Amino acid sequence: MHIDLEGQTILVTGASRGIGREIARQLGTSGATVAVHYGSSSDEAVALCKEIGGRSEAFRADLSDAAETDRLFRDVVDAYGRVDCVVNNAGIAVHSPLGSDLDDWVRDWDNTLHVNTRAAGILTRSAVPHFMEHGGGRLIYMASRAAFRGDSEDYLAYAASKGAMVSMARSVARAFGKQNIKAFTVAPGFVRTAMAQDAIDAYGEEFVLGGIALDRLTEPADVAPTVVLLASGLSDHATGCSIDINAASYVH
Ligand SMILES: NC(=O)c1ccc[n+]([C@@H]2O[C@H](COP(=O)([O-])OP(=O)(O)OC[C@H]3O[C@@H](n4cnc5c(N)ncnc54)[C@H](OP(=O)(O)O)[C@@H]3O)[C@@H](O)[C@H]2O)c1
Repeated sequence: MHIDLEGQTILVTGASRGIGREIARQLGTSGATVAVHYGSSSDEAVALCKEIGGRSEAFRADLSDAAETDRLFRDVVDAYGRVDCVVNNAGIAVHSPLGSDLDDWVRDWDNTLHVNTRAAGILTRSAVPHFMEHGGGRLIYMASRAAFRGDSEDYLAYAASKGAMVSMARSVARAFGKQNIKAFTVAPGFVRTAMAQDAIDAYGEEFVLGGIALDRLTEPADVAPTVVLLASGLSDHATGCSIDINAASYVH
C-alpha cells in the first residue's frame, strides 16, 4: 500500500514534541504540507519544519486561550488557502489529587478541559464550515486509553477530557458524514514522551512494561502511522471509530 498525501495540507496541534512531532514528521514524509502548531517550544517547532521541508511552517497558539485557538485555524488558512485535515493532538496531563484546595483543583480541571478538549472543539467549529466549502475534510482526535479504561484518582480531569474527545469525534462523524467530513479517534496507552516520563520516573520502566503485553514500551513512531493512514482517506468508511494503540494493556 502506497500512501501519498501530496496536495494535502494538514494542521497538527502540539507538533513541537512527543507524539505530535512524530505524526507531523511522518505526514510530511508521505508528502503532506504540514502546519506545525506549537505552544511554547518554538525552537523545536522551527527545527521540525526545516526537517519536513516543503511549505511546512510553524504556528504558535496557546490552546488554553479560546481567542488564540480560534485564530490558529485562520492563520493556517491564510498561509495555505486551504486545510484538508486537522489532527487534534496537543494535550496536558495534570496531576491533581482529590485532596487539593478547591481553587487549585478547579484550576487543574479548567486547564485540562480547555487545552485537551475545548481547543479541539474550537478547531472543529472552524474546520467544519471550511471543509463544507471545500468539498470535505478529516478530523483526527487524540484521546487516550484513559477515556475507556479510566485513569487513577489523581487524573480524573484528564480521563474526562479524553472521554469527551471520543464523543466529539463520534458526533462529528455522524453529523457531517454526508458533507464528506470524516472524524476518527486514536487512543494510545502509555507512550514514551515527556508526558509519560513522570510515571516512568515514579514507578520505574519495569513496572510500566509489566502492564503491557508487548516487550517494549510504545514509542511515538508506533502511533503516527495510524494517523497517516486515517489522514490518507483509505480508511474513510471507518469514520466514527476509535483505534486503540495500547500494546494490549487494555482490551475492550
Ligand atoms: N504519552 C502518553 O503516554 C499518552 C498516552 C495517551 C494519550 N496521549 C495523548 O497524546 C497527545 C500528545 O501527548 P505527548 O505524550 O506527545 O505529550 P508531550 O510530549 O507532553 O507534548 C505535548 C504537546 O502539546 C503541546 N501543548 C501542551 N499544552 C499546550 C498549550 N496550552 N498550548 C499549545 N500547545 C500545548 C506542547 O507544545 P509546546 O511544548 O510547544 O507548548 C507539545 O507539543 C496528548 O493529547 C496526550 O494526552 C499521550
